[in-house]
Amino acid sequence: MYGRTAPVAVVKLLVQLSARAAGIPARAPPGVRFFAASPWERNAPQRANYCLLSSYTRPSSYSIRSMSQTTVDPSETKKFQMLANKWWNEQGEFAALHAMNDLRVPFIRDNLLNVHAGRQMGKPLSGIRILDVGCGGGLLTEPLGRLGADVTGIDPVKDSVQTAELHSSFDPILRERVRYQVCTLEELVEEKVEAYDAVIASELVEHLLDVDIFIRCCHQVLKPGGALFITTISKTNLSYALGIVVAENILQIAPKGTHDWEKFISPEDLERVLEASGFQVKSIRGMLFNPLSGAWSWMESTAVNYALYAVKQNEEPQPDQAETPSEHNQEDEARPTASQTGSQSS
Ligand SMILES: C[S@@+](CC[C@H](N)C(=O)[O-])C[C@H]1O[C@@H](n2cnc3c(N)ncnc32)[C@H](O)[C@@H]1O
Repeated sequence: MYGRTAPVAVVKLLVQLSARAAGIPARAPPGVRFFAASPWERNAPQRANYCLLSSYTRPSSYSIRSMSQTTVDPSETKKFQMLANKWWNEQGEFAALHAMNDLRVPFIRDNLLNVHAGRQMGKPLSGIRILDVGCGGGLLTEPLGRLGADVTGIDPVKDSVQTAELHSSFDPILRERVRYQVCTLEELVEEKVEAYDAVIASELVEHLLDVDIFIRCCHQVLKPGGALFITTISKTNLSYALGIVVAENILQIAPKGTHDWEKFISPEDLERVLEASGFQVKSIRGMLFNPLSGAWSWMESTAVNYALYAVKQNEEPQPDQAETPSEHNQEDEARPTASQTGSQSS
């Protein structure tokens, strides 16, 4: 769910119904800011410059090299190809992703700062190398760069990467800290072994052809002890109702056909895939989008959207530990996971 346009009465009813189903209050808790400028948005270049984008974006194809193992589902990249010049319209198709920065930027920043002490006033992430996979137009890449991180954004959709490059080119600070590349993680993996302190996959895994390959590649490019941050949509009846029926078909918050419920993954299954690939999950937090206010808030339940933070273990996983979610044994089921213990980030 990315944009926002809807008749208020319908929205109110749906928010109340969904909130009741998720066991949460329909209104955001006191103290949640609505539409306030975030600190990481400061110094953002003038939006007016970006009307250039519509003529800048060419109808070229996305890059897929011939390889036996790919995470790219061409039907997914086609959808983002169509929207490649819309990334920086804050009221458009990606409005909810813009708003999500209010949760995901502090989530990433604070968890990284627990491990890497802030080095520079105002630039707490300076010296930290981040890979933002499936960066799209750079909506998350840029604020991380403004916090001082050295960020590389990658995406297989060439026109989205061009949009991201053009947008960051207007800001001299970002020009030094942010770079973009048209590629997938599996194409990058050979040349970037243990190269990054953190990998971000925000609103990406629900678009992948193969999550296991993707997670293994994340493990390979991360330094030992490196951090993986994922935000995605859970696989529940409620996420089908809200993420597809309501968001795409009724409210048209996201373009129709953006999501395929079969590709959604529950926090429990994602945690199993991560642990089988040598990660330890540190924190999983539920998130909820309120289409009335256009704001996100944290919530207990991970039934709709969630953010996950995992750390690369120093030891390689044993071959017999590598299993698919459906193959996990009863012993695993007895062991409490971060999703079951309700582990929270600080
Ligand atoms: C919903 S957008 C999220 C964009 C960005 N992460 C954000 O949250 O603002 C998903 C992005 O993933 C990209 N994508 C799709 N399949 C991919 C793959 N296999 N590898 C890397 N990126 C992919 C799409 O082109 C698109 O830009």
